[in-house]
Amino acid sequence: MQNTVIQKSLDHFKTVIESQLQRVERIKKSAEWTDYSTLEPIIIGVIGGDGIGPYIADEAKRALEFLLKDEIASGKAELRTIEGLTIEKRAEVKKAIPDDVLDEIKKCHICLKGPTTTPKKGDPWPNIESANVAMRKELDLFANVRPVRVLSEGIDWVFFRENTEDLYALGSQGLDVTDDLAFDFKVITTPGSDRIIRAAFDYAKANGKKRVTAVTKANVVKTTDGKFLNVFYNIAKEYPGIEADDWYIDIMTAKLIDTKRRTQFEVFVLPNLYGDILTDEAAEFQGGVGTAGSANVGKQYAMFEAIHGSAPRMVDEGRAQYADPSSMLRASSMLLKHIGQVEKGERLDMALDICGTYERKYRLTGRSDGATGREYVDYVMETIQAEDLKERWEQFTKQEKTG
Ligand code: IPM
Ligand code: MG
Repeated sequence: MQNTVIQKSLDHFKTVIESQLQRVERIKKSAEWTDYSTLEPIIIGVIGGDGIGPYIADEAKRALEFLLKDEIASGKAELRTIEGLTIEKRAEVKKAIPDDVLDEIKKCHICLKGPTTTPKKGDPWPNIESANVAMRKELDLFANVRPVRVLSEGIDWVFFRENTEDLYALGSQGLDVTDDLAFDFKVITTPGSDRIIRAAFDYAKANGKKRVTAVTKANVVKTTDGKFLNVFYNIAKEYPGIEADDWYIDIMTAKLIDTKRRTQFEVFVLPNLYGDILTDEAAEFQGGVGTAGSANVGKQYAMFEAIHGSAPRMVDEGRAQYADPSSMLRASSMLLKHIGQVEKGERLDMALDICGTYERKYRLTGRSDGATGREYVDYVMETIQAEDLKERWEQFTKQEKTG
């Protein structure tokens, strides 16, 4: 009996190793970066998702239509709604991303995605893989880039979270050896670490940042996190002007609330799960996960999304129209910059800082005592158009700094 159990487990482990060895080879051969400046039209897919997703995705789409109106009118850009990435449909076909939806996504060059429900054991849905995780793997979106900024408090961070490996790579392929013994697999590869760490250092170099910080638990998780850290310090040698240091995840969560230390961090690079956790904490300083956008970037595709979940309760309670669209607007600004529309992305960011952090003419509370997402986006669009946008933004961020 025990031998059969062990054999079955070894067979499973063998399949897992084979699939990961193939993945390593795929990473090594992976294609060149897409040059968005050569695409006409750039096709931008907009995916609603579940819960409040369709509401906030629609609002972000309205802002993108407004910002890209000339490009859309002249045929340089196209916004395309992609239906069907809903939990009902995914449950029906028992797939994280239904095939026809994936085909539609692949026909776009880049996409903006609302949050999608992620089932877990015991939910009324089949326990299928998260749509986010599946899309990141399917499109090889290895860099999860998450900026957090509260300039008036000296917080200006960019997290480079590895997006395809670690405990996520085989999150749905763990092993129940017996009723009493379960394994999950943590996977870290050299080329997978290499590409995310390089992305972090390249970003630092291109943006005048002086420091890149790795976060691991390499003192305990010696093999995989040890590899990540090793690759980190090897790559750091290629960037002599940039200081490289590393912290363990536990103390890092503490340092983020240390007001003296936290302003010294600039760029972070970290394995998937630590990145998941730390970026939720970081977003809280900026006003919560509802205010944070996220880029999932691969060499060929890129997907931009909110960092929070689908808040089904808001829909059940009839409050979806009060959901905060800021996360999707931040994601839209990252999308704009990614396709080369840097100035438009920056104007959107400045407007979001003014509307969400400083001026706050409309407050979103998630309830009827606050503004609706639609009113808020109107306010953001009005702010973007203002001639004195930049001056106002500078005024707000400066005032707070010296005050
Ligand atoms: C995120 C989310 C996802 C993740 C969930 C929904 C699977 O928390 O994007 O941070 O864990 O990556
Ligand atoms: Mg998360």
